[in-house]
Amino acid sequence: MNQENNCIHEFDIALICDYFSYVERQGPGSPEVTLKALSFINHLNQHSKIADLGCGTGGQTMVLAQNTPGTIIGIDLFPKFVEIFNKHAAELGLSDRVKAIIGSMDNLPFKEEELDLIWSEGAIYNIGYERGLNEWRRFIKKGGFVAVTEASWFTPKRPAEIEQFWLDAYPEIDIIPNKIAIMQKAGYVPVASFILPESCWTDNFFALQLHAQKHFMEKYAGNQNATHLVEYLQHEAQLYARYKDYYGYVFYIGMKI
Ligand SMILES: C[S@@+](CC[C@H](N)C(=O)[O-])C[C@H]1O[C@@H](n2cnc3c(N)ncnc32)[C@H](O)[C@@H]1O
Repeated sequence: MNQENNCIHEFDIALICDYFSYVERQGPGSPEVTLKALSFINHLNQHSKIADLGCGTGGQTMVLAQNTPGTIIGIDLFPKFVEIFNKHAAELGLSDRVKAIIGSMDNLPFKEEELDLIWSEGAIYNIGYERGLNEWRRFIKKGGFVAVTEASWFTPKRPAEIEQFWLDAYPEIDIIPNKIAIMQKAGYVPVASFILPESCWTDNFFALQLHAQKHFMEKYAGNQNATHLVEYLQHEAQLYARYKDYYGYVFYIGMKI
């Protein structure tokens, strides 16, 4: 692997976005996992307001929308993802209650206690799990829910290579009990947590990228940065294959108290 880029944050964000606009999901997950997390959330009705923060192109949002009443607003920093999201919503006949807008999860356009549910798959890390849970809480009604996925360690000790990879990528990665304690401290009852199955990474994230990588490399033929990005993402997949016993994504679901 190229030695210059040790961390995903060192790549051009526009390039990362373009790469991920070729894939249905921008992070590990699956419709089954989205539905499992949703099964812990009650009280939703046709008046409910849901926000999906860091929604990407909306793979998980469309699953949510097809299985919940109420309206959903997706928020993402990147216009291209928002455009693809709204196209998908229209194709599925969901545009009347599902819409994405460009915005940032650290500057939300909601009123106090306006939301019944905040959803965020593979995205809260952008501002940090602890900060996100604390800042988002005021927008959720009492008795409303937050549901996020977050990279987490499975073991108290890890081999140095994977430890270093994650400390560069996301130093807030921690063991599951610590993540749950942070949720409690932020003012939520931790209702459920579960580990995403391996297939969410292998089949739904890494395998889908193989096709995308081909198109991307054709488009950016001769572009060193694009080559390095693909190498980095291939390296990420190899690390997962080698060290998947030590880490993964975990769904954390909490109810605002
Ligand atoms: C790993 S992707 C996950 C996307 C989607 N939720 C999924 O699971 O497929 C992270 C997403 O967060 C978005 N993002 C990054 N920083 C953001 C911010 N400050 N506010 C809103 N979205 C952000 C990215 O554009 C990207 O779509």
